[in-house]
Amino acid sequence: MTKSIWEATSPDGTAFPSLTGSIETDVVIIGGGITGIMAAMLLTEGGKRVVMLEAKRLGSGSTGRSTGNLHIVPDETLHPIRKKWGKEAMALVAESRGEALKLLESTVAEYNLDCRFCRRPHHLIATDDSQLQPLEEEHAAMDEAGLMVSRVTDLPAPFSGRKGLIIEGQAQFHPLLFVQQLAGRISSDRCRIFENSPVREIDELHVRVKTDSGEVRAAAVIMATHTPKGFNLVQTELRPNREYGIAGRLRSGTVPDGIFWTMQEMSHSIRSFEREGTRYFMVIGEEHKTGQHDPKSDYFRRLEEYGRDCFDIGAIDFRWSAQNYRPADLLPYIGRTAASGKVHMATGFSTSGLLYGPLAAMIISDVIHGRENRWEQVYRSTRFAPGKGGQKIFKENVDVVKHFFKDYLTPSEKKQLGDIPPGSGKVADFEGKRVAVYRDEQNGWSAVSPVCTHLGCVVHWNPLEKSWDCPCHGSRFAPDGSVIEGPALEPLARRELHLRGS
Ligand code: FES
Repeated sequence: MTKSIWEATSPDGTAFPSLTGSIETDVVIIGGGITGIMAAMLLTEGGKRVVMLEAKRLGSGSTGRSTGNLHIVPDETLHPIRKKWGKEAMALVAESRGEALKLLESTVAEYNLDCRFCRRPHHLIATDDSQLQPLEEEHAAMDEAGLMVSRVTDLPAPFSGRKGLIIEGQAQFHPLLFVQQLAGRISSDRCRIFENSPVREIDELHVRVKTDSGEVRAAAVIMATHTPKGFNLVQTELRPNREYGIAGRLRSGTVPDGIFWTMQEMSHSIRSFEREGTRYFMVIGEEHKTGQHDPKSDYFRRLEEYGRDCFDIGAIDFRWSAQNYRPADLLPYIGRTAASGKVHMATGFSTSGLLYGPLAAMIISDVIHGRENRWEQVYRSTRFAPGKGGQKIFKENVDVVKHFFKDYLTPSEKKQLGDIPPGSGKVADFEGKRVAVYRDEQNGWSAVSPVCTHLGCVVHWNPLEKSWDCPCHGSRFAPDGSVIEGPALEPLARRELHLRGS
């Protein structure tokens, strides 16, 4: 199993009980990552009673597998947003993300959180001449948005000699310690936090959510789950992706301070992190669509090779991957769902959720408190209109439709179960039915239905994370079928395997 550097350097285990019984509250928050915890803090500070339900451990989803980088410029960069939405919207994006960064900084100070928060510069680097024009366009957009940006000509190794931009006043922190410690500070009778409490049902009409052993009735629901749970039209506009990360130590040399992004098509993000006198490098990248990994590619190895081109790398201590959801029109969806005035969502953060999450918490908490929010319109979740997003949306849906049918209609190779190596899984024809079969390290077998419980696509085996991943909207399931993440609420159905002989 993979483990992120944040998971490896924060306390193990859960700190809060599972939900049992029935509770009534003002707001129920589904999801205990950075969006959920910031919403819980703002709502309780405003006098609301809150219940937060986390499916596993707080921060165990994308927050604990993120970069820990806090940058005002989202990973789409600003000039494409200006081109798509105009100068005013772009300025609001920069302003709102800047305010989210200030909120995080003031939260760290107010609640005395030991999460290594520090201000650091952000660098955007052109690695060849084809990126010089986009770099200039981005420089102009950042200037217009009022960021402290300048050209940098003396980049440190391994980027010496390259052209780039430096944006001052950005930040880095340990995202998992932030979430865990803040939860400890705000937990109270009015802010009740539950872990290991996956939600199985959301009743939007009666504003009620159910887990396996409990139920919460509330005046409002916030789905702080990275993508809305259950079916939502917005899912047709989101592309689920997986991205990989490695961290380790250098044999010689050092990793420069700050955030470093390269601009090539397969971009990489580099940073360092110091713990108990040991300085780690981190490299993140090699993104691909969820459920559509290239079986011939070892993404961790590719990341390691890239890292070795940059630094004198010693041991790789940590490897992990994380999910992100890219919106076709470049902006997240934050606010009430189209179907309900009482259910709120926050999704489409791409890889910039550490600031979009707190920003979503600010917007939704203002809406629930009945206050105006000047950024609400830019990110409104009801802006989706079929056809508006143009070719990108169309392409994503063609891809989804392709997977609905291709996986059923193409005859699969009838391979023997014995072809599946220990620790691997495969969707196979078995006794006339398609079954997702997993062979564990001790040669035990388990089988589940390969039909995703969200909307019925067929899951694919992910050999790096040992999970069943759905290529349509990014639901992911453990080998035993239980939900790891994504919009699916129910596990994959168990199947019996009647093995003859060995
Ligand atoms: Fe939507 Fe699987 S995630 S069908």
